[in-house]
Amino acid sequence: MNRQEIIVKTRGFDYRVLIGDNLLAETGSFLQTLFPPGRTLLVSDENVFSRCGEQVICSLAAEGWQVKTALVKPGERSKTLSGAKRLYNTCFESGLDRSSPVIALGGGVVGDLAGFVAATFMRRVPLVMLPTSLLAQVDSSVGGKVAVNHPLGKNMIGTIYPPRLVLIDPLVLKTLSPRQYRAGTAEVIKYGIIEDEDFFLWLEDNLDLLLALEPGPLADAIAASIRSKARVVEKDEYEQDYRRILNFGHTIGHALEAATAFRYYLHGEAVLIGMHLAVKLAQKLSYLDFASAERINRLLSRIKMKKPPGDLTVDKVIGKLEHDKKRQSDDLIFVLPNRIGSAVMAPVSDKQMIAGLVESYLKGD
Ligand SMILES: NC(=O)c1ccc[n+]([C@@H]2O[C@H](COP(=O)([O-])OP(=O)(O)OC[C@H]3O[C@@H](n4cnc5c(N)ncnc54)[C@H](O)[C@@H]3O)[C@@H](O)[C@H]2O)c1
Ligand SMILES: [Zn+2]
Repeated sequence: MNRQEIIVKTRGFDYRVLIGDNLLAETGSFLQTLFPPGRTLLVSDENVFSRCGEQVICSLAAEGWQVKTALVKPGERSKTLSGAKRLYNTCFESGLDRSSPVIALGGGVVGDLAGFVAATFMRRVPLVMLPTSLLAQVDSSVGGKVAVNHPLGKNMIGTIYPPRLVLIDPLVLKTLSPRQYRAGTAEVIKYGIIEDEDFFLWLEDNLDLLLALEPGPLADAIAASIRSKARVVEKDEYEQDYRRILNFGHTIGHALEAATAFRYYLHGEAVLIGMHLAVKLAQKLSYLDFASAERINRLLSRIKMKKPPGDLTVDKVIGKLEHDKKRQSDDLIFVLPNRIGSAVMAPVSDKQMIAGLVESYLKGD
């Protein structure tokens, strides 16, 4: 059977990320390689659980696990402290102890929320990730960031808490909506641009197969994405500096999401636009040569960019850009590609230039 394995090193321990069709049906046996069967909490959302909950529970039960399931409503609004509190209650009610793993079956929302609970219940219990959206499979399930939202800021209450195991079953992506899937591919392309030139070349040849969910290329793209993320995170697990290159496309992307109250764009859709504009910025500021910028633009353009809502203005977007808090300066920090497969952090003080780029997007140029 075709399986790929990636080992991710962290400060505390190494963990395996496995990629392969039908892996979810073997959750129980993989868990057994790490923990003696006992009690476990399976966290999922209603959409995901109705599609693949049964096979996970069956495989766990077959190995002797006592599974308590907690379902949350699908969507970002479940990722709150009150959502976490409900899960703590379930942890107590179902008699979890410090060795009982929490299993996250779902997209980034479930992963971040269940991960936050695992990091904090009884100070920490083991975490296992079963990511089911493309974004979760290529990004949020690896690297250890877990968080819930606060009314005053997204992902503001959280920590770094790596999982003990990640099982990725690309087959589950078949039921993901095409819109969610396309948005996830933006994060896949990101790795090629900022960190992995060979993967960029591969994407130039294979993006259409990836968009068509062709099994071989899909598994390869997930594996390449995770290897890339793992290399970055292993160098800078606690995001002192280098890990911030993963925020390529996110400065403007996040501002677009915030300016539309996180209701209009999917995260990946906003990041795609942010990447387009960051490439233009890199070229204007002479970080990137014309030919490389053209190639990146050509690849990015193969995923359709979402048009802005009619009432979005340059001022609204600029108002949501975050300043460089570390330097306590007025500069904005952008991640800019300096060649294909490499990026740098660049302080940018020219607000007019950024406003001009946002305007070009709003006008549809
Ligand atoms: N921790 C990190 O490093 C990190 C990185 C990036 C994003 N995130 C977080 O991830 C979240 C976004 O993740 P997301 O895009 O996966 O959103 P999500 O978890 O809300 O999933 C998107 C939608 O797809 C559905 N879904 C998921 N898998 C499915 C499947 N296989 N079949 C059918 N439907 C399915 C979900 O029910 C949901 O409705 C945000 O909260 C973001 O902050 C975290
Ligand atoms: Zn992102």
